[in-house]
Amino acid sequence: MLKLIDGKALSAKLRSGIKEEVAEIKAKGITPGLAVILVGDDPASQVYVRNKEKACIEAGMHSEVYRLPEETTEEELLARIDKLNKDDNIHGILVQLPVPKHIDEDKVIDAISVEKDVDGFSPANVGALLIGKEAFEPCTPRGCIELIKTTGVEITGKKAVVIGRSNIVGKPIAIMLLRENATVTICHSRTKDLKKEVRDADIVVAAIGKAGFITADMIKPGAVVIDVGINRMENGKLTGDVDQNALKEMDFDCYLTPVPGGVGPMTITMLMRNTLVSAKRKLK
Ligand code: GUN
Repeated sequence: MLKLIDGKALSAKLRSGIKEEVAEIKAKGITPGLAVILVGDDPASQVYVRNKEKACIEAGMHSEVYRLPEETTEEELLARIDKLNKDDNIHGILVQLPVPKHIDEDKVIDAISVEKDVDGFSPANVGALLIGKEAFEPCTPRGCIELIKTTGVEITGKKAVVIGRSNIVGKPIAIMLLRENATVTICHSRTKDLKKEVRDADIVVAAIGKAGFITADMIKPGAVVIDVGINRMENGKLTGDVDQNALKEMDFDCYLTPVPGGVGPMTITMLMRNTLVSAKRKLK
């Protein structure tokens, strides 16, 4: 039987804990503040940014959103980041990616102060993650780990297969799974026999960006499948990289995060947690 991992329920539980901690730190004089910058008017990014803003406000955090026009120059964006770096009311800064082509994404990420890089994208945070030092962990991969853990399935010693090698998801989740003592394989578009690799996996993380790419025959009975894909279909509905309907028909047990309602809400929850952690450091 297919067991769905409820990311919405886990998020709600974690967010209520975060909300309590926000109230506690507010009583000590610090309101955790997150600044989100969106350049241009990509519809998907607009939705993500609105959801981040809403979640922060609901948790009692301070939220600032800068919606800048598509033609914003790199200099203008860097100047905005510099201001926020120096702003004591702001504990986390996030520039929604992708940025327009005329802006150098690496320069933007580098400009965010490491202490406020709640996305965990800066080379310093990525390096810290790699060598096992304390760091802001990227939100989507961290959310995936939390989702795997709710199943109660032990990660240690398991074969984990990550499909996708992006800096935002594939690479960091591979490192996190390694830290959880999984044996990790990273697959990508040049992988020779993807089906065979996935079929061997106890834990599958699909971050490809192609609707229904992972079919039921690729999944090993008992596997935990984390679907990071967010694909919009012609009818406007969202769907993941995993063919959930086919998996439902199979006569073996496995776990799957649904889309929507799986990884998506957890990404925002982890962003809130990172922002709270950043604000708490100011207490010390
Ligand atoms: N674009 C897609 N995912 C993310 C994310 O986690 N953070 C940022 N800043 N941009 C994104």
